[in-house]
Amino acid sequence: MHKDLAKILVTKEEIAARVKEIGAEITRDFQGESVLMVGILRGAVVFFSELVKNVDLDVRFDFMVVSSYGSSSVSSGEVRIIKDISQPIEGMNVLIIEDIIDTGHTLKNLKKLLLTRNPKSLKIVSLLDKPSRRQVEMEGDYIGFKVPNEFVVGYGLDYDEKYRNLPEIGVLKEEIYTK
Ligand code: IMP
Ligand code: MG
Repeated sequence: MHKDLAKILVTKEEIAARVKEIGAEITRDFQGESVLMVGILRGAVVFFSELVKNVDLDVRFDFMVVSSYGSSSVSSGEVRIIKDISQPIEGMNVLIIEDIIDTGHTLKNLKKLLLTRNPKSLKIVSLLDKPSRRQVEMEGDYIGFKVPNEFVVGYGLDYDEKYRNLPEIGVLKEEIYTK
C-alpha cells in the first residue's frame, strides 16, 4: 500500500472483476449497435482504458475536459467545458465515462448540455458513486462501486493531481490534507 494511504477501499482485483462485469453489461445492452465512449479527462482515463477492452461492440472513442468552478474538492454547481467532444453526436449511442459522482453537479450539467445535441441514447458510466454527498438528483446508469463519504484517490482519482497512478482505490491519511 502507498505510504500516504490510510486504508484501501477497493483492491485492484475487485476493480478488475467489476470492470469486466460492467463491460459485459454494456455489451449486452447495446448488442448490434455502435457506441461512442466519451472519457472525462483526466480522472476517468484509467477506468476508461480498462473498460473499453471489455466492451465487445463497434466502439468509437472521444474525450472531454470539464471543470467545476471553485476548488478541486468542492463543487459549486456550474460546469465549464474546456475541451468538447470533437464530433457531432446526433443519432449516436453515447456513453459518458466518469471517475466519480459526488455532488452530481458536473454530470447533471453535462447531461443537460449533451441531450440538446440529440444523441440516440445517453448513458452515464461511473467507476464510483458517493450518494451521501449528492446535492442534485443524478443517477448513473452503470456504477462500479458505492463509496462512503471520504475523499478517495487512485485508479485515476487525484488529490492535488497526485495518486492517479495507484492501482487501487484508497483513502488518504489525514496528515496529507493538513500539511
Ligand atoms: P461532482 O460534480 O461533485 O459530482 O464532482 C465530480 C468531480 O469531483 C469528479 O469528477 C472528481 O474529479 C472530483 N471528486 C469528487 N469526489 C472526489 C474524491 O473523493 N476523490 C477525488 N476526486 C473527487
Ligand atoms: Mg479531479
